Amino acid sequence: MTDRELINMAFTALKQAYAPYSGFTVGAAIECEDGSVCLGCNIENAAYGDTVCAERVAVYKAISEGRRKFRRIAVAANIGSYCMPCGSCRQVLSEFSPEMEILCAREDGRYVSYRLSELIPKRFEGEK
Ligand code: THU
Repeated sequence: MTDRELINMAFTALKQAYAPYSGFTVGAAIECEDGSVCLGCNIENAAYGDTVCAERVAVYKAISEGRRKFRRIAVAANIGSYCMPCGSCRQVLSEFSPEMEILCAREDGRYVSYRLSELIPKRFEGEK
């Protein structure tokens, strides 16, 4: 699968976003080691702190379906700048695949890519 195909899937996922409070819609598509892809969108709540980001919805779906290792995640937002994963999403993703690739796409389709370990160096790993 090309980067562009994964990004297109993230934009498809974005259409399902539930974001009545912020008005900021995000979609994510995570590519698992076996080549399968799980989609996620942000899901907000009237109790704002219960909101979940698109990236965590995607990775939790994948984990709950038995996947444990990931190659890439595409994050799409309808804004003119790149939507970078928040700290909590970086930590959650790094639990499973600290060297996975992160693709961040903006509304015109341009994207930037990073290795997750660049975005969260010295992550918390428990009592190792
Ligand atoms: N959000 C995401 O879904 N992913 C990110 O990487 C950053 C933020 C969502 C959470 C919330 O619904 C909205 O964007 C505003 O923070």
